[in-house]
Amino acid sequence: MENTHKLLVIVGSVREGRFGPTVGSWVAEQARSHGGFEVDVMDLAEFDIPLSLPAAPPKYAGDDYPRPAGMAALTSALEAADGFVVVTPEYNHSYPASLKAAIDWHFTQWTAKPVAFVSYGGAAGGRHAVLHLENVLTELHAVTIRDGLAFPNYFHTWQDDRPLDPEAPVYAKTLLDQLAWWAGALRSARRAAPYPA
Ligand SMILES: Cc1cc2nc3c(=O)[nH]c(=O)nc-3n(C[C@H](O)[C@H](O)[C@H](O)COP(=O)(O)O)c2cc1C
Repeated sequence: MENTHKLLVIVGSVREGRFGPTVGSWVAEQARSHGGFEVDVMDLAEFDIPLSLPAAPPKYAGDDYPRPAGMAALTSALEAADGFVVVTPEYNHSYPASLKAAIDWHFTQWTAKPVAFVSYGGAAGGRHAVLHLENVLTELHAVTIRDGLAFPNYFHTWQDDRPLDPEAPVYAKTLLDQLAWWAGALRSARRAAPYPA
């Protein structure tokens, strides 16, 4: 539908016993009740994302980039999306290697599209991870959304797979409103003229 945007929620951690899918499900639920999106969730643990890359960078290889068969559904979902919510924890003051690998296997799939962040972790709530992601995704010509949602010490602030803070859905709505605005604006712009990457 033209008045909704294809939103891809990406669960970035693949660790055994991880919390990421819980946050991803809650974010997807907020996005579905927002009304502005067709929501899909991709959990990176379900795809083959090797650390070893082909010789040429994906930026120049276009559709012929030799990705593993087990990555195909992820690539298609990134390609189809009008915008993204990246759900990330913080590992050693940055984001997980699984997320970096998924980003590096692609390029044009991110270009001229908005990306919002929902993070979680210890005291900083994953904000170091988000700062690094903003830097990296700018290189791919993505547009990062200013208002993020961070969950510090989530092990004390979530219960029954939901944040205890009653304001959390309100913050999520602000993030999703901004993401919807950018998704619409950038989709129109991409259709009007090729992005000069
Ligand atoms: C390798 C590793 C490094 C971590 N480093 C940090 C850190 O720098 N800051 C922080 O707040 N939490 C850190 N943590 C705690 C994680 O944020 C927490 O374990 C979180 O649950 C990880 O997300 P996941 O469960 O989806 O894997 C680290 C956890 C791991 C496994």
